[in-house]
Amino acid sequence: MQNSRLAVRIWDLPTRAFHWTLVVCIVGAFVSVKLGGLYMDWHVRFGCTALGLILFRLLWGFFGPRYARFAHFVRGPAAVARYLKGAAPPAGHNPLGALSVLALLLVVGFQAVSGLFATDDIMTQGPLFGHVNEATASAMTSWHKLNEWVIIGLIALHLAAVAWYAVVRRKRLVRAIITGNVDAKDIPPGTPPTQDGLAIWLRALLLGACVTGLVLWIRSLEVMSDMSFS
Ligand code: HEM
Ligand code: HEM
Repeated sequence: MQNSRLAVRIWDLPTRAFHWTLVVCIVGAFVSVKLGGLYMDWHVRFGCTALGLILFRLLWGFFGPRYARFAHFVRGPAAVARYLKGAAPPAGHNPLGALSVLALLLVVGFQAVSGLFATDDIMTQGPLFGHVNEATASAMTSWHKLNEWVIIGLIALHLAAVAWYAVVRRKRLVRAIITGNVDAKDIPPGTPPTQDGLAIWLRALLLGACVTGLVLWIRSLEVMSDMSFS
């Protein structure tokens, strides 16, 4: 899609799929853990899928197309200051938004990793629980629980920022992260579209397959406790 048209493709399909699948997993992980009981199995499934998604996004930040790359959107404090003073940002995440993207990836990533070592002291435990000593498992479980509030705070901030851009700046960011397209008037003239076609999707599938294999392998490391009474 050329910039002379009304809209330019900025978010490739794998990045959009990553975003909305992550939303489903985070909501699913919260709902299932609050329901508890047998739903804890679903908590582990959603949590492990979230782990895979974060690993995928980290790789995509290096091997994905232009606007998905960390090198494109992660900027230093000077660029953030310029943006705050009114400088027009390039297409993609703006320098300030990039910080919130990194914070979300880090904090959700920490939640998923700490969950691997957590236990509810009843019948649910992360697959790596049996591989660490009691003190480490207990610390991981506490951090996993405490981090809930950091995640809720960051997501609230994320949604407030999206709403602010929609209402005050009149930018249709949500439409962009659904369709991938940004209005040409909202980005610098001459901005090239991202690559978003079969080759990119196959690359994403390959990375997705590697990450799925890794997460399944981690899950297979679970040490089953002996529940028999004999
Ligand atoms: C569990 C809740 C959510 C989490 C953890 C989350 C996380 C993220 C992350 C990590 C990104 C960066 C995308 C990337 O480059 O890969 C992002 C971008 C974005 N998210 Fe969310 N998100 C959540 C919910 C939502 C919801 C409900 C909406 C819409 C109402 C939304 C709208 C957006 C938009 C518009 C962007 C692109 C921002 C930009 O243009 O720079 N997010 N989100
Ligand atoms: C990013 C994804 C995840 C989110 C958002 C999440 C969220 C939470 C929250 C909020 C709690 C505390 C519930 C409460 O005390 O009311 C919790 C507990 C727990 N989570 Fe996760 N979790 C995630 C990933 C995981 C993973 C990957 C595992 C294991 C494979 C896991 C295993 C556990 C266990 C065993 C508990 C019970 C701790 C206890 O009750 O003492 N979680 N999780």
